[in-house]
Amino acid sequence: MKENGLVLELANELFSIACEENRSRESEMANGIEGEKEHGRMVLLWVGKLVKNPSVELQLSALFHDIDRVVTPGVGEGFAGDRKSKAYKSYKKTHAKRSADYICPKLIEKGIGHKVVERTRFLILHHDDTGAEISRLCDEELDVLVAADSLAFFSSVGPRLYELEGKDRLRDKIRFMVEKMPKFARTLLSSERFENEVFNRLKDEVLGEQK
Ligand SMILES: [Fe+2]
Repeated sequence: MKENGLVLELANELFSIACEENRSRESEMANGIEGEKEHGRMVLLWVGKLVKNPSVELQLSALFHDIDRVVTPGVGEGFAGDRKSKAYKSYKKTHAKRSADYICPKLIEKGIGHKVVERTRFLILHHDDTGAEISRLCDEELDVLVAADSLAFFSSVGPRLYELEGKDRLRDKIRFMVEKMPKFARTLLSSERFENEVFNRLKDEVLGEQK
C-alpha cells in the first residue's frame, strides 16, 4: 500500500501526462489545459478547506473528476441545450463515467490499491448527480466533493463559461451547481464574495430562489 503523499505525487504525474497527450487538441477544450489544471487545483484546495485531513480517495476524485474534459476534447465539454433536461442529466453522467473509466485503470497500473481506486471511482461517478440523488446517497465525502467542485466553479470554469455563453447561461449553470450543493455549502456560498460582481449577483439571486 502506497503512502498518501506518494499517491498524490503519482496522481499529479498522471494529470500532467493526460494534459500533454491531448495538448494538440487544446482548442477543443473550452477551459484549455491551464483552465482544467486550475479547476483541479481549486477543487483540491476547497476540499482541504472543508475537511481537516481529507482521504486520499477524496483528493484523487477532486483532481480527476473532470479529466474527461482533457482526455475527450470536443465531447467532454460544452452542452448547448436545456440544463434542466433529461439529456443534460445523462450528458453529465456520461461525462463522470468517462472521467472514472479513464483514470481508474491508470491508477491501478500505478499500483494504487483496488479499494482506494473503487472508492475514487464511486466519488467521481456521482459528482455530477442531481441534488436529490446525492442526498439519497448520504455520503459525507461525496457531499464535500460536490461542495468543493461547486465552490471552485466560481473562480475556475465559471469565468470562461460567462465569457463564452453570457449571463443567462451562466445563471442557468449556477442553478445546476447550487441545486446539487449540500446545505452547508449553500450557507458557505452565501457569504462568499467573488471578484466579478455579476457572479455575486447571480449566486445571490439563485440562492434566494432556493429558500
Ligand atoms: Fe468540476
